[in-house]
Amino acid sequence: LSDWSSDVCSSDLNCMPDDLIELADTRADGRTVQKLRYNAAKAFEAMFIEMRACGYTDVSITSGYRSYSYQAKLFEDYTNKELANHPGWTLEQAEEMAATYSARAGTSEHQTGLCCDMHNLSSADKAFANEPVYTWLCDNSWKFGIILRYPEDKTDITGYDFEPWHYRYVGRYPVIDRKSTRLNSSHLG
Ligand code: DAL
Ligand code: ZN
Repeated sequence: LSDWSSDVCSSDLNCMPDDLIELADTRADGRTVQKLRYNAAKAFEAMFIEMRACGYTDVSITSGYRSYSYQAKLFEDYTNKELANHPGWTLEQAEEMAATYSARAGTSEHQTGLCCDMHNLSSADKAFANEPVYTWLCDNSWKFGIILRYPEDKTDITGYDFEPWHYRYVGRYPVIDRKSTRLNSSHLG
């Protein structure tokens, strides 16, 4: 596997990849233009060009690289939401629930600059799996070295709930060699 498929320094508090570039397909709703590492950004860009050519024009990237501190803030927000929704829960219980869908700071793939969230809904939702473009992504993302990272039937392996919107660049060789990872081999059927 190349450098692109490893969890480069995501547990390092101060790690920030030095080759982040802007993502052309960031959702144009006023949010900060999202970034990924160079090779990943180019792979997603190529996939978006092909996706549009196939008629799927309304998908955009909502989240790319995230710093340690931003992920810490996100996780804290989700934990607080769980606490509000479950009066009586301890902080630990709330964090445990949040951790089924949000990574604790220092463990998020988003800190590697190799993955991003993309969809055509107002917010990331499992309903994205019902969109025809999701089927297209399942059939075609591997051609660009991109995989669905948290599949529905692999929650026991990934430790996270199904996320039809979260894709990771691993490079073309590991994906084409379907034996190289458990996730890819199942994904490719
Ligand atoms: N939602 C994914 C697991 C993350 O927070 O990185
Ligand atoms: Zn994500």
